[in-house]
Amino acid sequence: MNNRQLSPIDRLLSGANDALRTIGAPAGRPARDNPAASIAESELSRTEKSHAAGLMRVNHAGEVAAQALYRGHATVARDDDIEQQMQRAAAEEFDHLAWCEQRIRELGEEPSRLSPLWYAGAYAIGAASGALGDKWSLGFIAETERQVCKHLDSHLDELPAEDNRSRAIVEKMRDEEAEHGESAVAAGAAELPGPVKQLMRITARVMTRTAYWV
Ligand SMILES: [Fe+2]
Ligand SMILES: [Fe+2]
Repeated sequence: MNNRQLSPIDRLLSGANDALRTIGAPAGRPARDNPAASIAESELSRTEKSHAAGLMRVNHAGEVAAQALYRGHATVARDDDIEQQMQRAAAEEFDHLAWCEQRIRELGEEPSRLSPLWYAGAYAIGAASGALGDKWSLGFIAETERQVCKHLDSHLDELPAEDNRSRAIVEKMRDEEAEHGESAVAAGAAELPGPVKQLMRITARVMTRTAYWV
C-alpha cells in the first residue's frame, strides 16, 4: 500500500497494525513457502534442539527489528520510489519473521518475550536515521544488512550440523539480506561514519545475546 495516499490517521492505524502483526506472535501466514518445507526433520538431541531454538529466536528478534526499521524508514522516506523499495523489503522480512517463528515452535520453544522492546527500539532508530534524509537512511540499511549477513553466516556455522531445516531458512534469509543491502547501495546509500557502525554492532550484540535466552 502506498502510504502517501493515506491520511495521518490512516498512517497511524496502518503503523499500529504492522507493529501488532509483528510482535503479536503467531505472525500469520508468510506470502511465500517456508524454504524448509521439503526438508525432512532430523534427529536432534535435547541440547542441540535448545541451541538451535536459541539461535532461531535471535534471528526472529532480528526480523522483528527489521520490520520496525523498514517500516520506520518508509514512514519518513522523502522519495516515493525509496518508500516503495522499503515496503517491498519489509514484505520479504515479514516472511523471514514467520519462517523463524515456525522453526522455533517446531523446536518446541517460543519467540523472544522482549519483541515489543526490539520493535520499539528499532522503529525509533529507523525513523530517526530516516529523518536525516534518504541517503543516510539507505546508508543505515546497507550497513545493517551487511552486519546481518555476517551474523547469519556465523549462525550457519553454529547451527547443529544435522539441523537442515533451520539451515535452509537461514540461507534463504542471508541471500535476501544481501539483496536488500545491494538495493540500498544502488539507490544511493551514503557510507556511515566508523563510530556509528561500531555503535550499531554493539547494539546488535546486546539484542542477540539477550534474545538467545529470553
Ligand atoms: Fe530478514
Ligand atoms: Fe533484509
